[in-house]
Amino acid sequence: MPAKDLAIVILAAGKGTRLKSSLAKVLHRAGARALVEQVLRACAPLGAKKTVVVVGYQAEQVAAVVEPTGATTVLQHPQHGTGHAMLVARRAVGGAKVVVVLPGDAPLVRTETLRALIAAHRAGNAAATILTAVVSDPSGYGRVVRKSETNVGAIVEESQLSDEQRDINEINSSIYCFTLDKLWPALAQVKPNNKHREVYLTDAIAILAAKGETVLAQVAPDPREVLGCNTRVDLAEVDRIFRERKRNDLMNSGVTIQLPDTVLIDPDVTAGEDTVVEPAVHLLGKTRIGARCTIRTGSVLSDAILGDDVTVEPHCVIANSRLDERVTVGPFARLRSENHLKAGVHIGNFVELKKTTMGEGTKAGHLSYLGDAKIGAKANIGAGTITCNYDGFHKHPTTIGNRVFIGSDSALVAPVRVGDGAYIAAGSTITDNVPAEALGIARGRQVTKPGWASKKRRELAAVAGLDKSSSKSRKPKKRRR
Ligand code: UD1
Ligand code: CA
Repeated sequence: MPAKDLAIVILAAGKGTRLKSSLAKVLHRAGARALVEQVLRACAPLGAKKTVVVVGYQAEQVAAVVEPTGATTVLQHPQHGTGHAMLVARRAVGGAKVVVVLPGDAPLVRTETLRALIAAHRAGNAAATILTAVVSDPSGYGRVVRKSETNVGAIVEESQLSDEQRDINEINSSIYCFTLDKLWPALAQVKPNNKHREVYLTDAIAILAAKGETVLAQVAPDPREVLGCNTRVDLAEVDRIFRERKRNDLMNSGVTIQLPDTVLIDPDVTAGEDTVVEPAVHLLGKTRIGARCTIRTGSVLSDAILGDDVTVEPHCVIANSRLDERVTVGPFARLRSENHLKAGVHIGNFVELKKTTMGEGTKAGHLSYLGDAKIGAKANIGAGTITCNYDGFHKHPTTIGNRVFIGSDSALVAPVRVGDGAYIAAGSTITDNVPAEALGIARGRQVTKPGWASKKRRELAAVAGLDKSSSKSRKPKKRRR
């Protein structure tokens, strides 16, 4: 339900110096999406009237990720701190009463947690409510200094901690709910009293508390939800958690995943009940897998659509292809792109397919390249069959009918057609169309010469004997002493 008085501000202007990267921090990815996109997705169901993203470093690239979601961007240049970023967003926030502020680098936060934060803020009639977390290692984070059991007195940044404050293990997540007509005057009083000469949003908390305003803290149910990504190590941990969430969702919906820590699954992937995913599999992009499929170890599927009961044997690479029910592929097969394998097709080892369609029950068991080919049903493509689809200038199609038998080691020089029920003799190089039910044979005729081998061996032996005797005649000289 849309909340008419609610706005969202995401602070995403910083460079992220600690990542040591030329890419803005919020564009780094975790769980297969840019950090800022993850934050936007968590916020979307809140139905805010306005979502504002403060951009600065690589503003255009960040805007390109953010604006398609319907959010507005405002430019903060130069970047004088999180409090300054809020001030820059002021006009864009417009007439909202309550704002949820989030950093662009804490992507694990869940919508439910944000809902609970807003509810606590409204129920407590607070000026500010801080999402906090209790952690074992608070280093690097601002610490939450409580003035009573329920109320907060200040947030103190790491660099400004006193010795006693250093032990506080309740940290500021940088996710807050503010009542805007209380925030703006407090923020106006914040001075850049720190070594970076920045205006800290966190300093507005002490000002509000000193004015006697209510500042609450809502402790996140799971401290991992507020992890920020300041370093590559943080990024890896956040990515790991997203992946774990995704695997758990799939397992809870009836998918078996063996050694789940070794399996990488992108967020949009779906899989049906009783599908089994073996160790070290990657399921990427918009891959959709049916029920009772088996994806065996080492296979990488991206944007693949699999029907029910499909088996992908070990170490296959399948991209942007459709495999209908009961198809079996691999081991060691590569489906490059835009293939469509109809029900019951079998692709064996070392077969490469590109832009190829195969009708029901067709088989290509071994060592083939089939590109730009349209193959009918129940055809048999022998080992080593190659479609020569490229003449150095253009790609050409190969069309193979139903029930065709292509003998092993055939080269089909495209464009070429083989009609229904036709036969291609092994080892043929087919350059002309072969009509339905015909035999196409195109190879040198075999010549058999009886007794040739034994005659050859005798000749060779005789030559070898001569060699020996001539070398003997020289050797005795050497041996004489
Ligand atoms: C901030 C908080 C700290 C908290 C931590 C949680 C402050 C001063 N400190 O520290 O209390 O524990 O987050 O992760 O707020 N940004 C801008 N404009 C700026 C500066 C920053 O948009 O001028 C954005 C950054 O892009 C980032 C977010 O604000 O997305 C937080 O900035 P960052 O530098 O990561 O703050 P921390 O040092 O982590
Ligand atoms: Ca941070």
